[in-house]
Amino acid sequence: TCHLAWLIFVFSVEMGFHHVCRVLRHEEFEEGCKAACNGPYDGKWSKTMVGFGPEDDHFVAELTYNYGIGDYKLGNDFMGITLASSQAVSNARKLEWPLTEVAEGVFETEAPGGYKFYLQNCSLPQSDPVLKVTLAVSDLHKSLNYWCDLLGMKIYEKDEEKQRALLGYADNQCKLELQGVKGAVDHAAAFGRIAFSCPQKELPDLEDLMKRENQKILTPLVSLDTPGKATVQVVILADPDGHEICFVGDEAFRELSKVDPQGSKLLDDAMAADKSDEWFAKHNKPKASG
Ligand SMILES: *[C@@H]1O[C@H](CO)[C@@H](O)[C@H](O)[C@H]1NC(C)=O
Repeated sequence: TCHLAWLIFVFSVEMGFHHVCRVLRHEEFEEGCKAACNGPYDGKWSKTMVGFGPEDDHFVAELTYNYGIGDYKLGNDFMGITLASSQAVSNARKLEWPLTEVAEGVFETEAPGGYKFYLQNCSLPQSDPVLKVTLAVSDLHKSLNYWCDLLGMKIYEKDEEKQRALLGYADNQCKLELQGVKGAVDHAAAFGRIAFSCPQKELPDLEDLMKRENQKILTPLVSLDTPGKATVQVVILADPDGHEICFVGDEAFRELSKVDPQGSKLLDDAMAADKSDEWFAKHNKPKASG
């Protein structure tokens, strides 16, 4: 079976996010990625994986920083990440980060860039404190056909009235929540990608299935190199609302995704060395909008 491994969003890396998670690894790239991992941008970029534990058994967020881009327009596609962590709630309080109580013991907050987080004020569970990721869909039934019948996810909860469903590949993994919205799903520029790791041998079958079903394939099965590290295979699909879904071959991914004890230092060094704000200021140019 597959495993919800990480989510790619075109976040900009800013201080603050890793008060709740830890940096698992950090990599710098000189040019855009073959599978558009950094969004539709050329040039220097970096990615930082943050999460509550190793990528093998935890949900991980991939923060993508494009050195030349200052901000990204938010759509309505990504509705938030829900964490169970009283530590996150108390950290946010201490840092005077704005919190709004939206249900008893549940606080809504915004990361830099505007992505929403829902923090449940309860102690860290044994498993991954990232409980679910919520995406907007325009037609819940159509989306359930796609995610369950084609991609094989199991329905954990379904509420027709509220137009929501909770899906997963396994009980102890972070869940995917689909929330029906009125009208179309707008990805704007700050869109990301949901990703799963899968046994590599299943990827060609998955690609064939999508071809047979006339579903959109954004990136046919391709090998991606990380200099000095394992080469991973990925295939990237789009669901009926255009949410990008990346399936990654598990074996190489496990090797590639090892926690780097230097990750946090590499990120700090890269942020200290990043003179892009000064460069744009000196040349009297604004950073581009995504
Ligand atoms: C979170 O829960 C703890 C323990 O139940 C409580 O003391 C604390 O006030 C709560 N925090 C907020 C911000 O409500």
